[in-house]
Amino acid sequence: MDEHTPVLLHEIIAGLNIRPTGTFVDLTFGRGGHAKEILKSLTSGHLFAFDRDITAIAAGQVLVANYPASLTLIHDNFTQAAIRLMELGIHQVDGIVMDLGVSSPQFDDYTRGFSYREDAPLDMRMDQRQRLTAEIIVNTADIATLSHIFREYGDEPQAFQIAKAIVKARTLGPITTTGQLVTIIKSVKPQKELKKKGHPAKQAFQALRIATNDEMVNLEQGLKVATSLLAPLGRLAVITFHSGEDRLVKNYFKSLTTTSGSRYGIEAMIKPEEPKFTLYNRQVILPTAQEIIDNHRASSAKLRIIQRK
Ligand SMILES: C[S@@+](CC[C@H](N)C(=O)[O-])C[C@H]1O[C@@H](n2cnc3c(N)ncnc32)[C@H](O)[C@@H]1O
Repeated sequence: MDEHTPVLLHEIIAGLNIRPTGTFVDLTFGRGGHAKEILKSLTSGHLFAFDRDITAIAAGQVLVANYPASLTLIHDNFTQAAIRLMELGIHQVDGIVMDLGVSSPQFDDYTRGFSYREDAPLDMRMDQRQRLTAEIIVNTADIATLSHIFREYGDEPQAFQIAKAIVKARTLGPITTTGQLVTIIKSVKPQKELKKKGHPAKQAFQALRIATNDEMVNLEQGLKVATSLLAPLGRLAVITFHSGEDRLVKNYFKSLTTTSGSRYGIEAMIKPEEPKFTLYNRQVILPTAQEIIDNHRASSAKLRIIQRK
């Protein structure tokens, strides 16, 4: 299967307020679900789309053939977006979308190692040029680092127990496959957890994927790059899929849309600088119940949008 159903599609298109002659950026192209819809709204406008996964860029060539004058695909980390766009003479854009996490094709191609459903090498790299794999983390990180990863990036209740079991298991030989890791995870899960709906390795696998791809650091940098690129009235729309990501986006948007807190001495006498951004939505935008029924991947999605004044 090589499909990806875009999440919160209508909300993204409405939120970006697309001007047909404008310049837009999709920082997470995937299988182009959001990109296709943006392209339909453009006349002489242009969409620049990034993905760090070469298979996404390769699959996107069909869309480039359909929209040769309005779509440019760039194989790079979105943290490099400002530099890559500058090279193309673009300094400001009218709208940006970030749809975080993995795409369905990445997950469905079990040889990539993202899935806990099939046995495959423990890879999990979005960018195949990267050296660090999930296997390296699992076989070299200490207990404290592993339990931090499982707790912080996966909200995994058995974070410490899984970390301890991994370190014990690797004294017998390296852990090289997703199947081995699933067995280790299941071995420390209490019966009531194993009986719950959803796969018992889901949270730990998500956490390991986030660590392998350094997703939180990339997100922090990516948000700064994206907001620096926005033209006046330009908007940035970000879809997150877990609590850590959403907290980061929420706090960053808050810092850009409010005047800084406590100020002392001479600072308190100077008029604070007006924020340069406003929140498009005060409340986070969530998928409808129907969208969650139609596309299970949408169930944890949260959308936040910010606008440059
Ligand atoms: C959820 S999918 C996007 C799906 C897309 N919106 C669609 O509708 O088809 C996320 C994509 O972002 C890419 N990605 C994640 N982090 C990235 C980063 N730091 N730089 C560039 N691409 C990234 C992944 O490789 C993946 O293809």
